Amino acid sequence: MTAAPGWVYLTGGGPGDPDLLTVRAQRLISTADAVFHDDLVPQPILQLCRLDAAVISVGKRCGKKSTTQEQINQALISAARAGKSVVRLKSGDPMLYGRATEELAALERERIPCEVIPGVSALFAAAASMRVALTDRLSASRLIVLTGHRAAGERTMPLWEGAFPQDATIAIYMPGSDYSCLQESLLDSGLSRDTPCLIVSCAGTERQQSVHTTVTALHCQIPLPPPTILLLGRTCEPDAGNGVTAMPDTEKISAITS
Ligand SMILES: C[S@@+](CC[C@H](N)C(=O)[O-])C[C@H]1O[C@@H](n2cnc3c(N)ncnc32)[C@H](O)[C@@H]1O
Repeated sequence: MTAAPGWVYLTGGGPGDPDLLTVRAQRLISTADAVFHDDLVPQPILQLCRLDAAVISVGKRCGKKSTTQEQINQALISAARAGKSVVRLKSGDPMLYGRATEELAALERERIPCEVIPGVSALFAAAASMRVALTDRLSASRLIVLTGHRAAGERTMPLWEGAFPQDATIAIYMPGSDYSCLQESLLDSGLSRDTPCLIVSCAGTERQQSVHTTVTALHCQIPLPPPTILLLGRTCEPDAGNGVTAMPDTEKISAITS
């Protein structure tokens, strides 16, 4: 699949390793006339762009002068109207904490044809590399995805209303570096102090680092380099899964191996 003139592709760039791009994302990135990318998309992925492509950073870094959402929307519309094939490249999956609603609405209003290409979200990269099964038949029947970053005007909102279910794995995107504050919010929501907690930095890349801790000890933890994601719950115990093997279907196994 090659990027078509006048189209905009909201494309998931995955966690940062080009090997974790989908084939479709890789094809679009390497054929588009223009690529508008977020800060978290690293050079090895941008190097897949055509040499003559316009590669434009539209990152929204906290505390730094950045491109507004309206400017991004307008840039996408103008490039598509000029007949360019456009990739809007986001880290992870474009539909998770990626302002996709605003961009899609702006494009649809202007009748610009667009398509969304899913990507490997940070959550899945962290879970895979750390061998954390996000659901587990004995300890977690649900997955809760949250952000530690609240939109302007919602900063006083709690992380979670009410009590967290006990049988859940919780993933917190954009946890920030104030772990004391995060710990307080988690305890306020009834999470027990001994809940295992796993912090993963730069998941799915060569720079990945991780640390296992608990909610009790979270405030003592030195923040890992961004971007980081926090996973919480019994599935995040360092040795979770050991001894929890499903009963093998011995007959089928011997049929394959004999
Ligand atoms: C604006 S959100 C975008 C999330 C992205 N759409 C996704 O699906 O992964 C950015 C946050 O995602 C998380 N994140 C993105 N890439 C990451 C990575 N490689 N390792 C750990 N966390 C990551 C961090 O919490 C970061 O602050």
